[in-house]
Amino acid sequence: MNNALSLKNILVSRRDGRTRRIILDIPSFQLAAGDTVCLHGVSGSGKTSLLQLLGGLTTADPAEAGLPSGEVRWGDVCIDELSESERDLWRSQHVGFVFQDFQLVPGLSALENVLLPVTFRSWSIPGVLRDRARTLLQTMDIHQLDQQVHLLSRGEMQRVAIARAVLPEPDILLADEPTASLDKENAEAVTRLLVDYAREHACTLILVSHEPNMRGRTRRSFLLERGELHETTSDAD
Ligand SMILES: Nc1ncnc2c1ncn2[C@@H]1O[C@H](COP(=O)(O)OP(=O)(O)OP(=O)(O)O)[C@@H](O)[C@H]1O
Ligand SMILES: [Mg+2]
Repeated sequence: MNNALSLKNILVSRRDGRTRRIILDIPSFQLAAGDTVCLHGVSGSGKTSLLQLLGGLTTADPAEAGLPSGEVRWGDVCIDELSESERDLWRSQHVGFVFQDFQLVPGLSALENVLLPVTFRSWSIPGVLRDRARTLLQTMDIHQLDQQVHLLSRGEMQRVAIARAVLPEPDILLADEPTASLDKENAEAVTRLLVDYAREHACTLILVSHEPNMRGRTRRSFLLERGELHETTSDAD
């Protein structure tokens, strides 16, 4: 898939008592296929809301009479035009999502969690994927593959969530504060893993981070402020 991103006329608002508060107001935005991006902004600035929109988990506000409707386009696919089930299928084929709260399934092991999205798609899991899942977890310093995931530390859970996102080799990777629970050394390792993965797979990577040192790792960097996206400098190549 061509995984260039194009946004047009995006308006997302949330009800706040009797009024509606604008969360995202993005008239136009483009990313080239394979771009790596760091997204930052204060808490509540809409970073998670933007990732959810890009991954088709939410949609922009419906257009008001006379106004053009918003559009989220990945390559040739305008995800707003897909039905909910088509969007689910598109997401499962193209998007790796690392959720801010991990969304792992308690009671299942680390390995089972990583394999879960693949389990939904096919009756039997190819051995090569099982091996890749094991290797991925070990690369991320998770060695208790059969440990129930809710017994792991937050940092370990975070790494399991990342392994689950990259296992199906997505061409779009959306990572919501993927290093928030990690110490400096593991944060560096995870950042490197995500950026290297994106480069090797020509994957478009958007990662949310508060950490200044992560910003320089991606090719581009954007600040989300009062609903608007502003490009900030990023010194990585
Ligand atoms: N489902 C919802 N209903 C109403 N308001 C919401 C909902 N989800 C988010 N918001 C509001 O939208 C705003 C943006 O939230 P969002 O979670 O996108 O921010 P964020 O930048 O990811 O913050 P953080 O850094 O704390 O994760 C916040 O003010 C939040 O309260
Ligand atoms: Mg958030």
